[in-house]
Amino acid sequence: MRFEDKVAVVTGGGGGIGEAYAKALAKEGAAVVIAELNADGGQRVAREVEEAGGRSLFVQTDVSSEESCLAMGEAAIATFGGVDFLVNNAAIYGGMELHSLLTVPVDYYKNFMAVNMDGCILATRAVHASMASRGGGAIVNQSSAAAWMGAGYYGIAKLAMHAITHSLARELGPKGIRVNAIAPGPTDTEATRKIVPEFIRDQILSSMPISRMGTVDDMVGAALFLLSDDASWITGQILAVDGGQIMRT
Ligand SMILES: NC(=O)c1ccc[n+]([C@@H]2O[C@H](COP(=O)([O-])OP(=O)(O)OC[C@H]3O[C@@H](n4cnc5c(N)ncnc54)[C@H](O)[C@@H]3O)[C@@H](O)[C@H]2O)c1
Repeated sequence: MRFEDKVAVVTGGGGGIGEAYAKALAKEGAAVVIAELNADGGQRVAREVEEAGGRSLFVQTDVSSEESCLAMGEAAIATFGGVDFLVNNAAIYGGMELHSLLTVPVDYYKNFMAVNMDGCILATRAVHASMASRGGGAIVNQSSAAAWMGAGYYGIAKLAMHAITHSLARELGPKGIRVNAIAPGPTDTEATRKIVPEFIRDQILSSMPISRMGTVDDMVGAALFLLSDDASWITGQILAVDGGQIMRT
């Protein structure tokens, strides 16, 4: 029960890895706010957290909208009294359109970056004052191994999250708020099964030292560690959780 009496916001918590984060945080005592665009998924996860004995609130949230993020922060504070943790997991990933940088329709590109890059800044702006007023907190941004792979606009947005992680770590450190990121490798979720063809998945796996798909539980272990007091002197770091897919000096 590392997070007893704490409040955690998980953006994009209505399915996939975000759902696993929300449920794991609730299992360890946190009240969880599911800040999710997809109402069906968000409501389902909030209900399942409650059915399992946890505390949870679904707030329909579009992380690309300042207004929506601020309303989410206010709802979290009104319901649970404040916020201690934020996991910036929301992204356009499942169902993402695959275009090259040279041909992506500009409107699609702008919206994509507004969600996948700017969303983590807007969600942070909505909750950091509450975290600071409670003596500090921790943020985990959900990047991807794709950040280091020249992977078009998806990779650009994830690489930008690393820079955002560094800047926010500097800005929020003095307020007792740590900011880190996780860069998952290929992880078995419904979204990945939809968008990565099997033969490409097999090619990727065959080149990895630990030659299997990641599971949502692989991500949960890393995220909860970074949020917990075990990581109390770790900030501004990007942790690859990817079976060795990426090795950097
Ligand atoms: N699954 C993988 O292999 C993998 C690998 C690396 C990184 N990631 C990252 O992990 C995260 C979760 O991935 P997943 O596999 O669970 O995919 P997913 O598509 O199921 O999760 C993304 C969630 O974000 C929500 N979302 C989308 N736009 C939103 C918006 N504007 N506001 C709020 N919520 C919004 C979606 O509804 C969805 O619930 C994403 O950030 C993804 O980029 C995934």
